[in-house]
Amino acid sequence: MIRLRPLVLALLMTSTAAVAEGPKLIPMPASIEAKAGTLTIGEGAGIVAGDAGAKTAAKLLAQQVKVVRGLSLASDASTGPIRFVRDASVTGDEAYVLSVDAKGVTIAASGDAGLVHGAMTLAQLLSPDAEVGKPVVLAAMTIRDAPRFKWRGLMIDPARHFVPMPTLCAMVDQLAAQKMNVLHLHLTDDQGWRVEIKRYPELTRIGAWRTPPSAGGAPGEKVGGFYTQAELKALVAYAKDRAITVVPEIDLPGHAQAAVASYPAEVGVLGDRPAVGHDWGVNPWLFSPEDRSMTFIKHVLDELMEVFPSQFIHLGGDEAVKDQWERSPAVQAKMKALGLKTEMQMQSWMIDQLGEYLAKHGRRLIGWDEILEGGLPPSASVMSWRGEKGAVEAANQGHDVVLSPAPILYLDSLQSGRRDEPPGRISNGDAIVPLARLYAYEPAPAGLAPDKAKHVLGAQINAFSEYLVTPQQLEHATFPRLSALAERTWSPGSTRDFDNFVSRLEPQMGRYARAGIAAADSAFAVDFTIAGTRGDALRRGKVPVTLATQTGYGTIRYTLDGKLPTARSKAYAAPLSVKPGVTIRAAAFTTDGRPTAEPRLFETSRAALLRRSSSELVACPDGAIGLRVPLTSEATANTPVFNVNIFDTCTMYPAAPLDVARGFTVDVARLPRHYGLAHDEKALRRHYAVTTYGELVVRTGGCTGPVAGTFPLPNPATSPNRMTFRGTLPQGKGDADICLTFTASMESPFYAVESMQLLEKK
Ligand code: ACM
Repeated sequence: MIRLRPLVLALLMTSTAAVAEGPKLIPMPASIEAKAGTLTIGEGAGIVAGDAGAKTAAKLLAQQVKVVRGLSLASDASTGPIRFVRDASVTGDEAYVLSVDAKGVTIAASGDAGLVHGAMTLAQLLSPDAEVGKPVVLAAMTIRDAPRFKWRGLMIDPARHFVPMPTLCAMVDQLAAQKMNVLHLHLTDDQGWRVEIKRYPELTRIGAWRTPPSAGGAPGEKVGGFYTQAELKALVAYAKDRAITVVPEIDLPGHAQAAVASYPAEVGVLGDRPAVGHDWGVNPWLFSPEDRSMTFIKHVLDELMEVFPSQFIHLGGDEAVKDQWERSPAVQAKMKALGLKTEMQMQSWMIDQLGEYLAKHGRRLIGWDEILEGGLPPSASVMSWRGEKGAVEAANQGHDVVLSPAPILYLDSLQSGRRDEPPGRISNGDAIVPLARLYAYEPAPAGLAPDKAKHVLGAQINAFSEYLVTPQQLEHATFPRLSALAERTWSPGSTRDFDNFVSRLEPQMGRYARAGIAAADSAFAVDFTIAGTRGDALRRGKVPVTLATQTGYGTIRYTLDGKLPTARSKAYAAPLSVKPGVTIRAAAFTTDGRPTAEPRLFETSRAALLRRSSSELVACPDGAIGLRVPLTSEATANTPVFNVNIFDTCTMYPAAPLDVARGFTVDVARLPRHYGLAHDEKALRRHYAVTTYGELVVRTGGCTGPVAGTFPLPNPATSPNRMTFRGTLPQGKGDADICLTFTASMESPFYAVESMQLLEKK
């Protein structure tokens, strides 16, 4: 079906200029040239493709259009309006030219990857809005496109929480849809070994299973899983069809507990066998650099290279505390024999040996930036996670680098401070990475010598999964922030208009939804903020509430009558002032009347104003490391979530109205203390107990104020892991902080406040 429309002036659009009128694509192509005419693509339109690569791209196009638009295209047609063609003049394996005119669409590329990228651009052009199954009228245009960076990656960590293979395939689909091209699999860690190694079956018989930590009661059932080599080969092929390389990581010499639990005599340092780890963080178990262990690792690499044809093999190198090597006479003797002075040089030697081994097999080693310490082996490339310093240093030395600095490119960083955000990292707010913050990330770091810029391969987002238990949580953490990195790594550096990006993200959120992806709506959901303190609001009988969204996209509409907001509800224009007791419901709406997120509600009853949930409490002292953790390490969904400082169980109810409140209840949970702190253990701030299991101590007027109540904690072995304490408060004069401290031993499970409710006089 072809329909002509009147000639319009050809308009050359590059980057974000004038895209308000252009197609809503992510990532933004390098250039879009508008032409005269239109083309309608509807149900059954044929796709013509010649060679095998073109046929693959045609099939992917049909599959993707079915998902995102509900249209069935004929992917093996002999005639039709869509054509894939080889064109040697389109240089670069990933480059493509997509031309739409009144007669048809042509996707031209020299490489298979270019054809796939062109197909994914067309799938986006064919899903510009929320309509399903309807034909699409395309404006005539020519898109000339090629990536800015070679490495546009996502790291998934199935070691901490196993990720089922169908979820990995779904993630590959989403990577391809936005032209990301590397899936880095963090296949081994203290908590699990996830790749079948035929020569060493214990790695998965033992190493793939761990017993979750307990908060005092009986230990839980074993959890885990692993991928067979056949499954991984199928994944590699699936990804290859979609222009994605799977890069495997075997983390060494640290993060080795699952390997040592499986083969202590072969790879361990001191000969003892630990259980597979369940402590997040840094644990002491290392691979030995002795010959027996090096031979074992090379055998593992042999099988890994068999499964993964990727040029790069990732060998970790991060967070290896060297205590075991320091205590091992054999390792010390080896260092002496090699003339190495420090354990860090020992690690460098090990990485260098393995790098050479990979090079002999035509592969390249990449590792976390710790491999820079003690001398960077000439063969190595660096993935920089501790900021950008390592990347700059390595690139200036002539090594290739990939940027993935924490917290900004770490997907376990929360994307908002909302109460409904699932678990992740907070670090006193610094680790909150809203969409805009990730979008602002510039992958080319400052400080590079001009002739070294070519060593920046690109950037990668990392989904470390200590707190990402389910596929839905992984998806929530990854999307839509992946869209932001896709654009920052693919599009020209000048493409960095966040508002424009968000307007293009709106149809992309629809595509995520139609693909069944649980993308976070944190960037679009309405947040409610009270101006002044809650005590002020109660004293005045008026609650001043500001409504906002992270992105400012759409028009916020609200109700005060208990009904769900619609496109016809009152538009929010200025802060509201409501009587206590009113519930505000709000959502932002697009100009064509669709909500951009689930409506959120805010209660202003006196009781609601006097209640603070864990995310509204403040960690004390300042500067505390913050995590948002579930009730158990394996909690799948809908369990309470706790903002905690694992170094200090001190938490504060800020600005409690002590003139209004006469008493309180505190809901408390006992959580497993399962954090490998290694050398950071000295930072634990202990509070001393006077009864067997410690107490909850409540103080008013801050943490040095008078004690308002002391509540002994029960025996963890015999009591439920949630409990409520009730107490009274002395009459005070206005607002003051209430400080809550648990004095239980730092060696036992630890306690967190789920919520604190202040009670008024009856
Ligand atoms: C890392 O986050 N330890 C690479």
